[in-house]
Amino acid sequence: MRKKIIAGNWKMNLTLDEGQKLTSEIVNMYKDEKISDVTVVLNPPFPHIFPVKKLIGDTPGVFVGAQNCSDKDSGAYTGEVSANIIASFGAEYVIIGHSERREYFKEDNELLSVKVKKALENGLIPIFCCGESLEIREAGTHEPNVKFQLTDSLFDLSAEDIQKVVIAYEPIWAIGTGKTATADQAQEMHFALRRHLGAKYGKDVAAEISILYGGSMKPDNAVELLSKPDVDGGLIGGASLKSRDFIDIVKSY
Ligand code: PGA
Repeated sequence: MRKKIIAGNWKMNLTLDEGQKLTSEIVNMYKDEKISDVTVVLNPPFPHIFPVKKLIGDTPGVFVGAQNCSDKDSGAYTGEVSANIIASFGAEYVIIGHSERREYFKEDNELLSVKVKKALENGLIPIFCCGESLEIREAGTHEPNVKFQLTDSLFDLSAEDIQKVVIAYEPIWAIGTGKTATADQAQEMHFALRRHLGAKYGKDVAAEISILYGGSMKPDNAVELLSKPDVDGGLIGGASLKSRDFIDIVKSY
């Protein structure tokens, strides 16, 4: 059965001290409040990965991930970090293809396809982001648009590998805007994506893939979004920087 996952995307926020404080609070709340059926993944900026991993220790159900990885294995690529290096520091997940990377760093479907493979080759679980702009949503072509992002970046994976991928549907117009997709809009897209995966890999494989929703998820809208049958968790930006809010979202299941 597919996992329920709440992943925090810290983006480019928090100093070492701030990150350690947040991590300790989250780990303590996760344990003290006896959460066990929801996987939590913290995705801090690269330098935090090692200290965050140390603070998590052997807490079952809590993991650390990166926000990006290189499409290269190693070598003269100043400023890049490979999936192999990320994995060697104890990370288990990596976000790939966040809309901010697609927009500001011009990452396209082809490049993201390579990054997904590098992650998998190094034992990392890719959290593959997809989602449409407001313009596309208003034109009514969001479904084919987002399906194509999956087809173009993921559909050359084997059935075994695609089941290791976590998908995050993040409508760009909902990210950091305070404007969430309604639970029905999220369900509609998640259902369409699962059917799309099913058409390529079969229903059983599609049923194993966690599809997270991202975009202004907060404690007050999480219950409704997470109650939908095809919404298997969330990728949380702003609200992941506050331990109480983040854990309240985790407990919304
Ligand atoms: P948000 O960000 O929760 O602040 O909208 C989500 C994301 O970008 O992953």
